Amino acid sequence: MTSQEIDSLTIEEKAALLSGADFWHTAALEGHGVPSIMMTDGPHGLRKQRGSGDHLGLGDSVPATCFPPAVAMGSSWDVDLIRRVGEAIGTEAVIEDVGVVLGPGVNIKRSPLCGRNFEYFSEDPIVAGVLGAAMVDGIQSRGVGASLKHFAVNNQETDRMRVSAEVDPRPLREIYLRAFGRVVTDARPWTVMCSYNRVNGVYASEDRWLLTTVLREEWGFDGVVVSDWGAVDDRVRALAAGLDLEMPGSRGVSTAQLLAAVADGSLDESALDVAAARVWALVERTGARAPVSGPLDVDAHHALAREAAGRSIVLLKNDGGLLPLSPDADIAVIGAFAADPRYQGAGSSMINPTRLDRAVDEIRAMATGSVTYAAGFDTAVDVAESDAARLLDEAVAAASGAEVAVVFLGLPARLESEGYDRDDVDLPANQLAVLQAVVDANSNTVVVLSNGGVVTLSFAANVPAILEGWLLGQAGGGATADVLFGVVNPSAKLTETIPLRFADSPAYLDFPGEFSRVRYGEGLFVGYRWYDARDLDVAHPFGHGLSYTTFEYGPASASTAAGGDVEVSLTVTNTGPVAGREIVQLYSSLPTATTQRPPRELKAFAAVPLEPGQTREVVLVVRRTDLAYWDVRVDSWVVEGGTYSFDVAASSRDVRSTVRVEVAGDPVAVPLSRTSSIGEVLADPAAGPILRAAMAEMMGDAPAAMMPEGVDLSKLLDSFPIGRVAMFGADVDPAMVDALLAARPSDDAET
Ligand code: GLC
Repeated sequence: MTSQEIDSLTIEEKAALLSGADFWHTAALEGHGVPSIMMTDGPHGLRKQRGSGDHLGLGDSVPATCFPPAVAMGSSWDVDLIRRVGEAIGTEAVIEDVGVVLGPGVNIKRSPLCGRNFEYFSEDPIVAGVLGAAMVDGIQSRGVGASLKHFAVNNQETDRMRVSAEVDPRPLREIYLRAFGRVVTDARPWTVMCSYNRVNGVYASEDRWLLTTVLREEWGFDGVVVSDWGAVDDRVRALAAGLDLEMPGSRGVSTAQLLAAVADGSLDESALDVAAARVWALVERTGARAPVSGPLDVDAHHALAREAAGRSIVLLKNDGGLLPLSPDADIAVIGAFAADPRYQGAGSSMINPTRLDRAVDEIRAMATGSVTYAAGFDTAVDVAESDAARLLDEAVAAASGAEVAVVFLGLPARLESEGYDRDDVDLPANQLAVLQAVVDANSNTVVVLSNGGVVTLSFAANVPAILEGWLLGQAGGGATADVLFGVVNPSAKLTETIPLRFADSPAYLDFPGEFSRVRYGEGLFVGYRWYDARDLDVAHPFGHGLSYTTFEYGPASASTAAGGDVEVSLTVTNTGPVAGREIVQLYSSLPTATTQRPPRELKAFAAVPLEPGQTREVVLVVRRTDLAYWDVRVDSWVVEGGTYSFDVAASSRDVRSTVRVEVAGDPVAVPLSRTSSIGEVLADPAAGPILRAAMAEMMGDAPAAMMPEGVDLSKLLDSFPIGRVAMFGADVDPAMVDALLAARPSDDAET
């Protein structure tokens, strides 16, 4: 597409490109050879509706492979795996002639209550950013666009289309935008989807600072900004802010608004030129892809879904090595989810799976001992007491007659969904009652969880083994059997903290807000950052996950690369009996920080496959830019100099070794003014020495002699505004202060 081609369009044609032709398609310009393309969900499989569209997963869609949602795949920490899943989704999109897949979502899990946490990767922006970039890479490798969403600060479902996320600049930059920036700069998504909500009072769809200043001018994004479906409140303001494409189509309403705005002079036609060029370029990009020969290889994609699910199951607890089970064990499989799996979340991401494994069938297929099944409970809302009692009795009978009971618990679909948040973080009471009865009948009990959002583990002390299965996609039943019998050695680790109590969680007092405003009162302290800063015990920390083998970490060493990146090297050995994968994590901290910092922050990680006895060297690279904090005084990223500690860890609370590295800091030229404190002026490289000399000359030791023992005069003066010294009776006139602030001695000051 050339500028001449844009110039050849009428203004009506340009405007037509900027709004969908219908629910899922862009507009075609037949006379100019611009075809329509389909944009559809995402993110963990293809949701292509043939008939009328809806954005809530209500209508049917063509069969597609339902891979594990992000909550599960995020737990794999596996960049290569997620890229391969992205490639498979891209392939299915090509087969179905879809131009853009709406995903991945990289919003931060601020509260366990968020109904859509199942669609997001982590409470940590580095994990979300690195894994989100891998998904984008995979999808786009097939010539299909990805749509990085929901940009930005969309961390709840309550009032999602209006709520204003009130977040301070540092957490905004360092937590909520960071993952998006990482994906845009590393994977260059073809589209970014703006979120529904407001950010500090401004709709994301109309926020020029967000959509143009940050996204394009700072991060270099060159694709199309598309609205979330129905997110545009004012089309003219949205286009002026940088929102190129409104979805779904407004049946000409917004097109007329744009034309009227150009006609009355309130909108420059060049804004339409720029946006139309971007949409046209996107259409051309998707048209350039190679076709896929032959139909979808359902079995191959199902196998990949099973591999992905197996790498997403977190072994939280395994006392006495109860797991893996012996295939010849007599097993009682208990819990409705074993036969009627909860494998994905509700809403726009709901996939119509090509197949669906049931765990009880997969366990039976792999077991050589007896396998009994009892539903134990009903996931329906209302169950007659007599039925509940019967189901419980059947579960107890099954458990009593078996060597081991495997109890499948979880959140019924109604309790968590796109569009609304949860009311609590507990498992349903009826399920816990069945579990207790089963444990009373058979202490060899394994719990397998199916949940999109974190649940508290009130039962944990009573059971020897717990698998957190999250939502595992269509092959989750087979993957669960693989892990139960040790065909797959669990390697996943938590990307979200499991608290002991919901009341301990960071957003507990600020969620979901009220009167359409939600205050991000916890600031930087999201997830493990919070629990560590407050030294709170947790059920299981961020980064935790066990294995059927053991790993030993060798001593770590660090070096600084030319550009200032820090490289930490170590060896990891599989010291156990079976092959496994270890997710090695690297956290940084700056003990001498002059700014507020969480105790440690994840900066790099690696998933390391190891055969029994094998040792591998692991190199973890920390980008220097990832050590920066956002300095609100100068509105930019700053790396503070000092000796950083880098913790090599198996989880955020299992540090194996620490190396220290001296990092040179960035100069920070904080503008000085009369309101600058004496401390700030003294810290300034130019003005500081001048003021220090002047203070020494002016005060000598007299005041110190008057101070009570140990009271530090400089601390007392540190926060004193320099401009008021002159009015404070000191022998200082305002001209001297102004000269000092200009960081050059005035004639008076020298006398
Ligand atoms: C939804 C979701 C978004 C989805 C879109 C289209 O409301 O917020 O993630 O891609 O609409 O279904």
